[in-house]
This record gives sequence, C-alpha cells and structure tokens, in this order.
Amino acid sequence: EASLATRARRKGLSFGTSVSTAELRLPALRAAVAREADLIVAQNELKWWNTEARRGQPTYGAADAIMNAPEFEALTRRGHTAVWYRSIPDWAKAEFSAGRGEAATLKRVRDIVAHYRGRIVEWDVVNEAVWPADGRPDGLRDTPLAAAGGLDLMADCFRAAHEADPDARLYYNDYAVEYASPGEDEHRAAILTFLEAMKRRNVPIHGFGVQGHLTVGNRFRERVFARFLADLAALDLKIRITEMDVSDQRLPADFALRDGKVADHARQFLDVAFDQPAVVGLVTWGLADPSPWLDAERARPDRLPQRALPLDRDFARKPLWTAIARSLDGA
Ligand code: G3I
Repeated sequence: EASLATRARRKGLSFGTSVSTAELRLPALRAAVAREADLIVAQNELKWWNTEARRGQPTYGAADAIMNAPEFEALTRRGHTAVWYRSIPDWAKAEFSAGRGEAATLKRVRDIVAHYRGRIVEWDVVNEAVWPADGRPDGLRDTPLAAAGGLDLMADCFRAAHEADPDARLYYNDYAVEYASPGEDEHRAAILTFLEAMKRRNVPIHGFGVQGHLTVGNRFRERVFARFLADLAALDLKIRITEMDVSDQRLPADFALRDGKVADHARQFLDVAFDQPAVVGLVTWGLADPSPWLDAERARPDRLPQRALPLDRDFARKPLWTAIARSLDGA
C-alpha cells in the first residue's frame, strides 16, 4: 500500500514525523521514516538548551546527525523551536534575571535560523507563548519571555528569523486548541488575538502549528475545531498539524480496543483538518510506538506503553496508520 507521504502528495499535502537522537540509532526506524514521510523535524535537538547549553559555544552535532542522515536526504526539514519558555538554558535564565533576556533571545533566533539557512525551510519561531489563564492583560503565558518584552519581543523574534533566512516559512506553534472545553475556548480566542496583533504589526508570520496532542475520551466537536481553523485561514495563515500523537491513557489494556479507538479519534480530528484548504500537512510526534514523552508525562495507570503512533514497535502499520491514510485519501 502507498505510503503516507505518497498519499499526502496526491492531495498537495505533506506527511512528516519527528525524529529523536535515540530513534536515529535504529536503522529500521530510519528506513520506516524514509519510506512513510516527506518531512522530518528534530524532536529536541534544536532546542536552545541543546544547541547552546553553554553561552557562546554552539553544539549542533545532535541536530546535524538528524538533519544530515543519508536516509533523510530527500526529505524536507522543519525547525522546532527557536523560542520556547521551556527550553531556555540556565545561563540564559540568568540573562533574563539581569535584564538582558530580550537581547539574548533575539541573538538565539538569529543564530539558529542563520545556521540552517536554506536547509530548514520552516521554523516554529515561537512555541506555546499564549496562555490567558495566567491572567496577563496581553494573554501571554507568564514567563521570563513575556516579562522581558511581551508582544514586542514576540514580534521581534519573527522579524529576526525573517532577516536570518528570508525564504523560511515562519510559524507560531501551540497546543490545547483541539477540544471543546471552556479553557480551550479561551485559549483559542487568545491565540487568534495574538496572531491578529502580529499581523497588525506587519510581522512576517506565515503559519500556525496545531500541535495535535490528542487524548481519546476528550470532547472533540467538529464545528468548534473547524471554526478555529477557518479563523486562522481568514488571517491569511497556513496551518500545519505539527506534533500529532493520540494518548490512550484512559482506555483499558486490550490492544485491539485501544488501537481501534485511537484510530477513530484521530480520524475525526484529521477529517476536519484536511477539509480546511489552508492546512498544508500533518506531522506526527514520532512514527513508531512507544512515545517516551507520553509514557513519562501522561503515563497510563497500568504503566503499559501507549499505542499513540502510526506504527507499532516492530514498525508494522497499525489502525492509526490506516486512519491517517484514509483521511489523506479523502482530503
Ligand atoms: O537526553 C536526556 C538524557 O540524557 C537523560 O538521561 C534523561 C533523564 O531525564 O533526560 C533526557 O532528556 C529528556 C529529553 O526529552 C530527551 O528524552 C528531557 O529530560 C526531557 O525533558 C525531554 O522532554 C521533551 C520535552 O518536549 C521537553 O523538551 C520531550 O522529549 C519532547 O517530546 C517534548 O516535546 C514537546 C514539544 O517540544 C512542544 N510541544 C509539546 C511536546 C510534548 O511535551
């Protein structure tokens, strides 16, 4: 059966996956990625604490190992992430405390985007900056980044990225936008307000990344999600699903049951996404089970590994793979 990338391409879309350093060591994983995907993103290796753990001493080795793997030569490369409050190295936290956070952040953006100029064609410039529940009037998450420069700093990050690589497509990326709940309603509204503010300032921003960390059992409402995507498109933004995985945290242990429900849940979500013409593609957060971050941060009560990704641990296609394939076919 045709790969996900082939199916995506037929519809003018893209299918990609994240790759981590640990996964890169597995030849069968590298082969599966090369077979199924047309785009890769390093899961952690481009984050600030990985590329500049010590000030002024860049370490691109782990990222380059992924970017330059021979198997991935023909694949498109996405960058994740230039600026994220959870990836600030300790020395840079000290810069924020000393009132120099803005300068350090903009230097970081220029350095990382310039280093991969022409090679990484799409960047998550800013990740997870909006969180209205924190109570700031500007809707930003209450972090050192917001305290240092607020919306002006966010805008300058996009400008700095654009100067460092004028051809790169620049995204704002966030989670908790998929489901119908009061918290996510407010989050979606605040994200749209943020993006409008960027547009009003003539910021070079080209897209919004819907992370898509799904959980079976959460309340998904087609109309709510479709409306959000339409609002993004109306701002003249492209949309990419950037980190999809499907947690089966609340389901019983039975494999067949879990796989079926995971597939159905993803299908519901993806059919809405691919119905929106501004959506350019899908990236999954890993291609094959297990998902280390889900099993660590959203562990099942029985501690079994989750079945959150399209392939099983032997790289065989699962019902989630089929759901993605059928949804792409129907796009
Ligand atoms: O590499 C070290 C290893 O040497 C050490 O033994 C081990 C012990 O804790 O930690 C390892 O580093 C971990 C790293 O993942 C690699 O596995 C970090 O502690 C851990 O914090 C890190 O978690 C990552 C997380 O982002 C924080 O950066 C996850 O892998 C990654 O999947 C997750 O991805 C995020 C996206 O960037 C943004 N959206 C949400 C998504 C899920 O949280």
